Amino acid sequence: MNTELLNKSLVQKNLLSRIIYFEELASTNGYSKENHFELEDNTIVLTSNQTNGKGRFGRPWYTAKNENLTFTLIKDYGIRIDEIHMMNFYTSYILFLTIKLMSDNFRSNELFLKWPNDLLLNRKKIAGILLDVKDLNSDLKKFIIGIGINVNQQNFPEEIKLKASSLKNEFKTDFIIEDLLIEFIEQYYKNLNLLEDSIQLMHLWKSNSDFFGKKVKFTQFADGNVAEVKLVDIDFDGGLIVSDDSGKLSKFYSGEINIE
Ligand code: BTN
Repeated sequence: MNTELLNKSLVQKNLLSRIIYFEELASTNGYSKENHFELEDNTIVLTSNQTNGKGRFGRPWYTAKNENLTFTLIKDYGIRIDEIHMMNFYTSYILFLTIKLMSDNFRSNELFLKWPNDLLLNRKKIAGILLDVKDLNSDLKKFIIGIGINVNQQNFPEEIKLKASSLKNEFKTDFIIEDLLIEFIEQYYKNLNLLEDSIQLMHLWKSNSDFFGKKVKFTQFADGNVAEVKLVDIDFDGGLIVSDDSGKLSKFYSGEINIE
C-alpha cells in the first residue's frame, strides 16, 4: 500500500486527520471498536491483509491479501438516533458514486445499489458496509464505518463464488487500490450536504437501485423466514416496504433481499 501517496492526497489536503495502516490486521472494524476512545474524527484504519473480517449478521468477510480495499472510517457526526440509518444510505451512495466514477469507461456493466447497503455489479456483490455507532446518547455520535471493496481478487471461496465478484472480474482490468480509496474519501467529504437532505439522498439512492417493482425472496433475520415479495419502496425511516401477493404492505428494518 502506498501510504505516502495516501497521506499526501488525504491527510495533507486536510480531508483526513490520520491514516492508521497495518500490513496485516484481523479486522479494521474490530480494531476501531476496541480503540474508539483514542481515534479522532476523520481517521481511517486501513490494512492490506484483513485476516478475520466481519460482515453483516456475524458473517465472515473474505478478502485476499493485497488485492482488495478494506478500511474503517471514523466519523463524528451530529445526527438524531432516528436518523442513523441515513449514514448507511449515504455511505453506500458514495460507494456507488466512487465505483461509477472510477469505471466510467466501462458503460456496458450494470452497477446498482441493493437495500440496505450493498453494491452489485452485474448482479454480483462487489462491496459491503458494516456500520457501528458509539456515543448513541450524545448529540455527536461516533460512527465506525467499515468498508470492503473487492478490487483485484479473481478467485472467491466456494460458498460465495456465485454471488460475489470484484471490479477486476467484471471490468476485466486491474484497479489501483489507493486511487479507489482517494476517490471514495474525496466524494465522501464533497457530498456531506446530502446527509442533511434525506429527500435528495433517498431520491438519488433509489434511482440507482433497480429492484423496485420486482419480485424477490426476502429473508427476515429475526426468524429466518423467507417470503416471496414485491419491493415497493424505502421509507424515510430506512425501512423496506414490500407487498405480498394479496397486495398487503409490510415494512422491514433488517433482512436480506435475494435475487434469483
Ligand atoms: C457486509 O456484510 O456486506 C459488510 C461487509 C463489511 C466488510 C468491511 S471490510 C473492512 C471492515 N472491517 C471488517 O471486519 N468489516 C468491514
